[in-house]
Amino acid sequence: MKQRKKIITVAIDSPAAAGAGTQAKLISKHYNLFYLDTGKIYRFVGMLKLKNPKNFTYTLIKNKINKLKIKDLNNKNLLTDSVALMASIIAKDKKIRKIVRNFQTKCAYNPPKKYNGSVLDGRDIGSVICKDAMFKFYITANIQTRAMRRYKEYQKLNKKISYNQVLTSLKKRDFSDKNRKYGKLKKTSDSILLNTSKDSIKSCFKKIKAIMDRKLNN
Ligand code: C5P
Repeated sequence: MKQRKKIITVAIDSPAAAGAGTQAKLISKHYNLFYLDTGKIYRFVGMLKLKNPKNFTYTLIKNKINKLKIKDLNNKNLLTDSVALMASIIAKDKKIRKIVRNFQTKCAYNPPKKYNGSVLDGRDIGSVICKDAMFKFYITANIQTRAMRRYKEYQKLNKKISYNQVLTSLKKRDFSDKNRKYGKLKKTSDSILLNTSKDSIKSCFKKIKAIMDRKLNN
């Protein structure tokens, strides 16, 4: 795809609940970049499967993705644990990954003109979707920290789920995301590793900003 000239592209990969979305939003705001949470697209397809278990075909998915608007991804129903688990199941399918790929590349390389570029977070952004991104980060944190963060988010949303259920669900998704055949979660050799287990949101962003400013100001 032809890329708009001189845009900033940021690719972030991470296991679930490692803080990638929070950092991506901060990057997006600070550098005026279009933000796409690619996990939401897989959640959208996962929800489609939960709602249409008998009629879940590639044609249905294609039609829905063709009509997909960014605002559809703000649907609060996409935030449940059952949708997340279903997302990680349908995300193993090569054909589904291909269907949602175009949407992601368009956002990455042709974001709306008012932005200076794009920031995408997900599992295969640096390895598949945006291989030539100007900046690549791999954000992680230990499983207990991630489970506690996600558990607190669910509490704020009044979702009835225990810490142990969240922990089990994250472990399941980690295993599936890291061991599937296509678009598996991995740190590419050219991405910068950030472990947020002990870092505050602010100090992690400070590191990212230092790395990005060094390159952008040169
Ligand atoms: O990031 P989030 O937890 O919302 O993602 C939900 C699921 O979608 C992940 O567990 C993963 O299986 C899938 N996903 C993916 N590729 C991406 C983003 C998410 O396979 N780029």
